[in-house]
Amino acid sequence: MCGIVGYVGPKVATPLLLDGLKRLEYRGYDSAGVAIMNGAGVKTVKEAGKIAKLESLLALTPVEGTTGIAHTRWATHGPPNQVNAHPHMSQDGTIAVVHNGIIENATVLKQMLEGRGYVFTSDTDTEVLAHLIEECFDGNLEDAVLEALWQVEGTYGIAVISSVDSHKIVAARKGSPLLLGLGDKENFIASDVSAILSHTRQVIYLEDGEMAVLDEAGYRVIDMNAVEIQKKVAHIDWDLAQIERGGYAHFMLKEIFEQPQTVENTMRGRLLDDEGTSKLGGLNLSDEELLSFTNIVITACGTSWHSALIGEHMLEELARIPVEVEYASEFRYRNPVVDSKTLCIVISQSGETADTLAAMREAKRRGARTLGLVNVVGSTIAREADGGIYLHAGPEIGVASTKAFTSQVVALLLFTLKLGRLRGALSQQRGSEIIAGMRALPGQIRQVLERAQEIEDIAEEYKRASNFLYLGRGYNFPVALEGALKLKEISYIHAEGYPAAEMKHGPIALIDEMMPVVFIAPHDSVFEKITSNVHEVKARKGRVIAVTSRDESALDGMLDYEFRIPETIDLLMPVLASVPLQLLAYYVAVKRGANVDQPRNLAKSVTVE
Ligand code: AGP
Ligand code: GLU
Repeated sequence: MCGIVGYVGPKVATPLLLDGLKRLEYRGYDSAGVAIMNGAGVKTVKEAGKIAKLESLLALTPVEGTTGIAHTRWATHGPPNQVNAHPHMSQDGTIAVVHNGIIENATVLKQMLEGRGYVFTSDTDTEVLAHLIEECFDGNLEDAVLEALWQVEGTYGIAVISSVDSHKIVAARKGSPLLLGLGDKENFIASDVSAILSHTRQVIYLEDGEMAVLDEAGYRVIDMNAVEIQKKVAHIDWDLAQIERGGYAHFMLKEIFEQPQTVENTMRGRLLDDEGTSKLGGLNLSDEELLSFTNIVITACGTSWHSALIGEHMLEELARIPVEVEYASEFRYRNPVVDSKTLCIVISQSGETADTLAAMREAKRRGARTLGLVNVVGSTIAREADGGIYLHAGPEIGVASTKAFTSQVVALLLFTLKLGRLRGALSQQRGSEIIAGMRALPGQIRQVLERAQEIEDIAEEYKRASNFLYLGRGYNFPVALEGALKLKEISYIHAEGYPAAEMKHGPIALIDEMMPVVFIAPHDSVFEKITSNVHEVKARKGRVIAVTSRDESALDGMLDYEFRIPETIDLLMPVLASVPLQLLAYYVAVKRGANVDQPRNLAKSVTVE
């Protein structure tokens, strides 16, 4: 996963690289390092921990030089210490490598290289690359990298520099994102556009099996047989201000508060109020093709998987088509029943999640059509899917996904409207009613956010709890899962989401006066049912926090805390109900002193298996 940034040009590289790393830190923050072409040699400086530590070290030992590569790590092989930090050096100290991904045949290659006298100093798989490139080096860096990569199995995004074939960066990609940033007499390499956006908006996305050679004057992209490839230059519209914190204490809080706008952006120009349907320009599917599908598989990970569960509910209810939701990591390794009659919807904020990408490729291989619901424009899933719906939620930096989730739900509903109307399962009138509900959402989210203080008070009360249970039914069962995931990710409190009625089949044994139970209980078609579940918890002295939508006498005396969200139709409740749960997780985590934007052990996009 990690972040990579590299620079070649006339300027001193270190400040540019540090700046880039800081913008990438959300991808991994186990350690960080730089390698700079410094006079005749390559100098590396690296440090365990966050980028601030590397920065302090560099302040003490500044490195001059105008070509360099840098890395922030999310460890897969070997603990997050200084020795395992990237860049890794070849034995002779002339070649430096940064790597994102996993070298799967590292053990075999290591044995082979040790047999030839190479001594390994780290526990990483990446060090193999450094020695292997040295072994293949014969004066030309790209030739050596190419030859080395032919021997490598696994995934990589790499950037390499050499003091022998100097003033160039060689980069290559297989399975981990990389892009080139094109400047005026300077060029960049990065794993994510945010690292270079303050310097250039002209980028080239590398595809798997492509290698780039950059110097001050320009760039070349070649394939694994060294045949030159003509690439398209893309222009990035995202604003740097959009990826900065803008006055909020954390990215997560900023992103929670952006939701009125981001939900609006997901819908913008796509709603056809009178026809009760939506207009989606990127599907690349004719109406006939859309009607030809007999089933839908939705695949994703984490929060995106939760939105998929809501999508399943919507699609089955309104479009009357069988839908299955699969964890991408499971889907790819079983033998799923998927063929050309299947539409495979792939949901990913980053568009780079390795499991999700692999699941999509597997579905394609089996003949399914693929549709990507992706936030990051130009990401791998967005590019490889047959068609897609961009979320238009803007960059999401907080590791805990918030605004992407609500936009995913809205995007799934847009698609449901389209398919439901086409299949004749959804009337124009109901479609128009739903659209009216959607149009009200941004304002309603704003109303919820205006009362963030109430949630902060609840957080104060429960910040010391060691467990939480989240319960919901119907459309709000996935919201319970998502609420629990948010809390555990950033506050490290153990939390579980459950369908409220399932509780009596086991988890009810956990309930006592120490157990806060969050009910998502708005006034919807299963409200009476969930009321009984609230009673069951209360009868066992559980502490009940409820998200409700109107004054309900059935709940009188049952609730320790209540948070009221505005009324909307059942299938839009998840959007409104998830906002207070995001805030609850956020405030609890802050009050416990946790690092909200960079929770331990996590990374924003999981680009390894
Ligand atoms: C969400 O808060 C998580 N950090 C994580 O579960 C995330 O949703 C998951 O890794 C999938 O990411 P993606 O949407 O970028 O594919
Ligand atoms: N496998 C490499 C390591 O453990 C790179 C991991 C990453 O993608 O950050 O260092």
